[in-house]
Amino acid sequence: MKGVILAGGSGTRLRPLTSVVSKQLLPVFDKPMIYYPLSTLIHAGVNDVLIISTPVDTPRIESLLGDGKDFGIKITYLIQERPEGLAQGVNMASNFAEGEKFWFILGDNFFHGPAFGVNLRLVSDNHGEGALIFAYRVMDPRAYGVVTFDDKTEKIIDLIEKPDSDSPGWAVPGLYRFDSNAQEHFKKLKPSKRGELEIIDLLNEYRKNNSLTMTRISRGNAWFDLGSIESLQIGAQFVQAIQSRQGQLIGSPEEASLRAGFLKEVDFLKYLESQPNSTYYEFLRSYFI
Ligand code: G1P
Repeated sequence: MKGVILAGGSGTRLRPLTSVVSKQLLPVFDKPMIYYPLSTLIHAGVNDVLIISTPVDTPRIESLLGDGKDFGIKITYLIQERPEGLAQGVNMASNFAEGEKFWFILGDNFFHGPAFGVNLRLVSDNHGEGALIFAYRVMDPRAYGVVTFDDKTEKIIDLIEKPDSDSPGWAVPGLYRFDSNAQEHFKKLKPSKRGELEIIDLLNEYRKNNSLTMTRISRGNAWFDLGSIESLQIGAQFVQAIQSRQGQLIGSPEEASLRAGFLKEVDFLKYLESQPNSTYYEFLRSYFI
């Protein structure tokens, strides 16, 4: 199955942290940020990944993740010359998907929850035509795309980007599934007030065609957009708390791949032998002692 990580943008909200390091390579406790969305995709059954990033950051990300062999998957890269919006990333991703449906995740989005990957597989198994989004309850939705919907039928009533109102609402996390119509819909988009081709506008094109569906992410699941200093800190604390309490890693592509059956235990053990004694690799080793 195919999946795409959009790891572009200039990370201005995190400067000077991002002056010389890509946002998606910043540490979130013991691993680089991009490990988390990559693990989410693998848990969802994705073994063919495209990473889209800037001309400067793509080689750095590639030197971290390589061709994916260490994780038992395939990873390829594509450069987004100018950051003209998330919808442009979806359009680029569509060429890679070659008509297949695909997952599309933002490189700063973190998900964790009971059987989250299994649930994503169920969602993709039932995905007919169109695009899929999720809804996650937040106290203050102003930083996100926001969806309003009928409580019983989950039929979408409205979908807007970054509302003014700070009343609690349902944010649209940066995890989407698209079908082959994304490029047709993309052609109709115009830049928003902030000069970007917005993913919400693309989703609204799907909605006009009655081909946008939504699923609520239930309470007990964690979602963070790690694109601000506060959320970066909260995300790191969350990972540390769960890992040290339960003795299990969160956001390990190797572990996700082992579980998904993409990585063979014998290959994984060989790969582990060549890794240093860092906290992360020691944690992975501890699974096999
Ligand atoms: C983007 C999307 C927004 C979505 C959010 C999730 O916002 O435009 O619709 O809710 O990601 O992380 P941005 O992070 O670009 O402000």
